[in-house]
Amino acid sequence: MATNRTFTMLKPDAVEKGHIGAILDKIAAAGFKIVAMKLTQMTKADAETFYAIHNERPFFGELVAYMTRGPIVAAILEKENAVSDFRTLIGATNPADAAEGTIRKMFADSISENAVHGSDSDENAAIEGAFHFSGRDTF
Ligand code: CMP
Repeated sequence: MATNRTFTMLKPDAVEKGHIGAILDKIAAAGFKIVAMKLTQMTKADAETFYAIHNERPFFGELVAYMTRGPIVAAILEKENAVSDFRTLIGATNPADAAEGTIRKMFADSISENAVHGSDSDENAAIEGAFHFSGRDTF
């Protein structure tokens, strides 16, 4: 994957509340091009693998239950400085700390249910994108 791509998930809370369209509007308005996207649901094994870096954290069980309880929208996004600009767009992990106008400030309720994921590095964007999409699904 090129370094101008990032990976995102609109998490189960955002999908449950009907926020897919509004969040995708914000992503498009910020200049991101969608190069892969699907509605899908992670299995327990998927979530345990995807979030393996957090498996010693006290919230790991809660995180896996949350991320598997319903559908998510997974997408790969393209833009210059995609990883950094997308993390700015979504705001801090804890919506209470997120800047006004960010996706988490607008759509998230708590640090655990924070509406949206954004990769934290080009390397992880490539790994996370490949976890959800094959080359045939990516444009
Ligand atoms: P994200 O940063 O996308 O990936 C790790 C996720 O773990 C994070 O979003 C939250 O959904 C969750 N998380 C992070 N910190 C906490 C916490 N202190 N308590 C519960 N969940 C958390």
